[in-house]
Amino acid sequence: MERRTIGAAALGVGAVGLGCMPMSWAYSASEQHGEGSLRTVHAALDSGTTLLDTADMYGPFTNELLLGRVLRERRHDAFVSTKCGLLVGETHIVANGRPRHVKRACDASLRRLQTEVIDLYQLHRADPEVPVEETWGAMAELVTAGKVRALGFCAVGARADRRAGSGSGIHETTIRQLERVQQVFPVSGVQAELSVWSREALRTLLPWCEARGVGFLAAMPLGNGYLTGTLTPGGGFEADDVRARHPRFTAEMMAANQPIVAGLRRVAQRHGSATPAQVALAWVLEQGRHVVPVPGTKKPHWARENAGADAVVLTAEDLTEISALPPARDSWD
Ligand SMILES: NC(=O)c1ccc[n+]([C@@H]2O[C@H](COP(=O)([O-])OP(=O)(O)OC[C@H]3O[C@@H](n4cnc5c(N)ncnc54)[C@H](OP(=O)(O)O)[C@@H]3O)[C@@H](O)[C@H]2O)c1
Repeated sequence: MERRTIGAAALGVGAVGLGCMPMSWAYSASEQHGEGSLRTVHAALDSGTTLLDTADMYGPFTNELLLGRVLRERRHDAFVSTKCGLLVGETHIVANGRPRHVKRACDASLRRLQTEVIDLYQLHRADPEVPVEETWGAMAELVTAGKVRALGFCAVGARADRRAGSGSGIHETTIRQLERVQQVFPVSGVQAELSVWSREALRTLLPWCEARGVGFLAAMPLGNGYLTGTLTPGGGFEADDVRARHPRFTAEMMAANQPIVAGLRRVAQRHGSATPAQVALAWVLEQGRHVVPVPGTKKPHWARENAGADAVVLTAEDLTEISALPPARDSWD
């Protein structure tokens, strides 16, 4: 697999990462089986993927514990990317960016992951109660202490940013926060949603990263599974699946967005055995050499398929066709 570089710390990774979240969080819990997930992580590593993206809050904690079981045996094959700063409560998820919490959270993640160092330690969300420089300063001390190799910052979702910000630019809040933390310690990676149907990051966030040599981890690059063409409109989701409440996953919107999947399928057909999922990931890879998609899956065959996206090289005609696809519709529009 092609290698890419994450940020100022110049950390090398396979171009396609693995998002580990679906193994323990966000998608139908009834399908989350520890042993199958272990096989998925091994399948990804065997296919040239190195970047494994997790967070202490996925599970909570069980996702890191799962990865620890693989890392114990294969630490040298992997690039460990985890996150701190969000706590799962009884009814809400709350931010905690207090320096004391961040330092304890890092020690706990190291124990669960069964490793001595985290390659990329990301702030999952800035805590509105704590100046972000204070949180980032504590994270920088973890680099100095040798517990972490580089720091990353997760963007607020584009819609949340639009609601919180002045209303003009997408990702405005995130960029303001990034400018502040850069004064304290270099940002090596930014993580935010980027996919064929969520292109907001292309406007300001991706260029911000490129201009500063910062890596970009593309979250949800498969549109929460929609862009793979394997989901049936009206098929329904389990109550604990985020898509059961997601404005693009009502039966009506899933039907309305079918032209996007049809376009990906047309492009895939021109590439022999390529799948719409691989075309969706190849498009993300085309957005810059600093971009690393982290498709999430709990299934070994999909981890292998996603890793294979690296071999799908889109032509100018493909890119023009994908650019011309209609924008995604959702029930909030
Ligand atoms: N920083 C943040 O705030 C944030 C937010 C969201 C996500 N993330 C990160 O980004 C990663 C990716 O996001 P995501 O997992 O939510 O969304 P995604 O990668 O867009 O899509 C994941 C979904 O696609 C399905 N899938 C994966 N590969 C497939 C294939 N080849 N064919 C058919 N279906 C396939 C998965 O099914 P199965 O689950 O059944 O395998 C899963 O339901 C996460 O794992 C996490 O690491 C970060």
